[in-house]
Amino acid sequence: MQDTITLVKMGGSVITRKNSYRNFSRRHTDDIAAQIAAIKGYMIIVHGGGSFGHTKSREYSIPGVIDDSKRNGSSLIHYDMLDLSLKVAKSLLNHGLAPYIFSTSSLFVSGKPDYTTPLYYMKKGYTPLLFGDTYVDENRISIYSGDSIMLDLARLLHPSRSIFFSDVDGIFTDDPKRNPDARLIPRIHDNHGIRATGGDATGGMKLKLSTLLAMKKHSGEVYLINGKFPERIRYIGKQEFIGTVIE
Ligand SMILES: Nc1ncnc2c1ncn2[C@@H]1O[C@H](COP(=O)(O)OP(=O)(O)O)[C@@H](O)[C@H]1O
Ligand SMILES: [Mg+2]
Repeated sequence: MQDTITLVKMGGSVITRKNSYRNFSRRHTDDIAAQIAAIKGYMIIVHGGGSFGHTKSREYSIPGVIDDSKRNGSSLIHYDMLDLSLKVAKSLLNHGLAPYIFSTSSLFVSGKPDYTTPLYYMKKGYTPLLFGDTYVDENRISIYSGDSIMLDLARLLHPSRSIFFSDVDGIFTDDPKRNPDARLIPRIHDNHGIRATGGDATGGMKLKLSTLLAMKKHSGEVYLINGKFPERIRYIGKQEFIGTVIE
């Protein structure tokens, strides 16, 4: 069992308050840390940006072609993301994990991320902690989102389980924040009949859903769970489970 790999995504929507710049949700982060600390085997954690990433990406119109303003903007976003990562790492440390932070922008070689070093640390028993990041790609500043990192890791590692914590109970028939009639979908295998709004700098639920469906080709169980109630991971596979299973 030591060889099982679990990928965890901590959504920016749950570890930060999305509409107020650099507003960290310590309690939700701690609650998630407490739950995932019990997971056995290898684990890699990826976190999103929320108000540490999206606010300034919008302000500086990133992604886009590099100019003086975008260079300063991406430098600031990268700083804010590292700062958020430190806060997340501290919470994981406090719950007995051994996180090791890697900036995904530093992993890029010839336009592609090279995960050799984070995986080396994983094999030594650390929990690599990665985050959605800005990076330079030829003459552009691009964004490597937490969800894309998850998909690339799944392709590379074929994890036994991938868990996405977000700020909703799962995938609904429509955006539950805008449509009170939206229904939670406990099991999903394609995107038919789902209305998902794009949203922030990294595509919101629309892109997330296609990422989740693509992940399923490379990963064992894939879940979307409300990170405000992370204890729900304990009910995975049981009748009481609340969340969406991607099949
Ligand atoms: N069909 C849908 N089901 C669930 N959430 C949806 C849907 N359509 C849009 N959303 C929105 O997507 C948001 C989650 O996406 P996002 O903010 O990118 O989360 P994260 O920070 O976890 O990546 C939810 O807060 C919800 O308002
Ligand atoms: Mg997102």
